[in-house]
Amino acid sequence: MTRILITGGTGQVGGSLGNLNWPEGTELVLPSRSEIDLGNADQISSFVRDGGFDAIISSGAYTAVDKAEDDLLTAFKVNGLAPAAFAETAKELDIPVVHISTDYVFNGGKIGRYVETDPIDPQGVYGASKAAGELAIQSSGCRHVILRTAWVFSAIGANFVKTMIRLADRPQLTVVDDQTGCPTAAPDIARAAQAVVLRQLTDRDAPSGVYHFCGDEAVTWFGFASEIFRLLEARSLAVPAVAPIPTRDYPTPAKRPANSALDTSRLTQDFGIEPCQWRVALASTVEELMGDKEKGLS
Ligand SMILES: NC(=O)c1ccc[n+]([C@@H]2O[C@H](COP(=O)([O-])OP(=O)(O)OC[C@H]3O[C@@H](n4cnc5c(N)ncnc54)[C@H](OP(=O)(O)O)[C@@H]3O)[C@@H](O)[C@H]2O)c1
Repeated sequence: MTRILITGGTGQVGGSLGNLNWPEGTELVLPSRSEIDLGNADQISSFVRDGGFDAIISSGAYTAVDKAEDDLLTAFKVNGLAPAAFAETAKELDIPVVHISTDYVFNGGKIGRYVETDPIDPQGVYGASKAAGELAIQSSGCRHVILRTAWVFSAIGANFVKTMIRLADRPQLTVVDDQTGCPTAAPDIARAAQAVVLRQLTDRDAPSGVYHFCGDEAVTWFGFASEIFRLLEARSLAVPAVAPIPTRDYPTPAKRPANSALDTSRLTQDFGIEPCQWRVALASTVEELMGDKEKGLS
């Protein structure tokens, strides 16, 4: 039996990991917040040691980007200290770690796609706390893959797609059109993380380090919203008139990268994992969400 610890099991990525088919003989352990509080790193080592795990997928995180600006301590505990504790214990037990990280470690000023070797320069507390987690894992010496992803959506949890569907009954909507990124479906990230961890479990010499995984096509939030509303319109639903606005007209507590498109070729080269087609995944997500809505489930 291979036991894999997955954190953040109630979240978009962790929940999607739990929903995948795994090879026979794999046992997933997805502890709740009451079983393991990522804000309390002291609990983590004993939890991992006692659990007899063969690998860890660390997808739990403090993801409230704006709230983090006023909650630095919790953000750093969950996103910095918890990954550090997982990495330290994984090193001691000689088990691999797949850790999910973010495009928000970059400052967004690059023209073109970010590669893994580009310098990190987070612009807010959330990005800085995730960068701290990355650095802790890298410096621990454990076997690891840090999978940076971006603009996550799914039928589970809170995300931009669900927000747009919720606002679809408004007559008009403005959406930021000068931030570019690559939308990524959580089930696709889960499949990528699964492929990486299974490789690590079967090959001690599997590649280690930082990798990027995201949707294939870069788009602005306005472009992303337009595609969501196109899919709703195709279901004969009324949609708002959407107008593009600059970031300065939609101020938020945390500064976002203007460009966070990620280059995924390193992951393709080392693990054979291709970027996902986010428009295809978006159509399935909208189908799932609207189906549930029509059935009165959400
Ligand atoms: N969402 C995005 O757009 C995005 C973009 C780039 C990268 N990422 C990264 O992708 C990964 C997965 O994100 P996601 O969108 O799946 O996140 P999510 O839906 O917000 O879920 C976060 C998960 O972390 C858990 N968690 C948070 N604080 C915890 C604590 N103190 N103790 C125990 N569990 C705690 C949550 O549990 P509860 O249900 O108990 O709160 C939840 O299961 C994260 O590492 C994130 O940084 C996300």
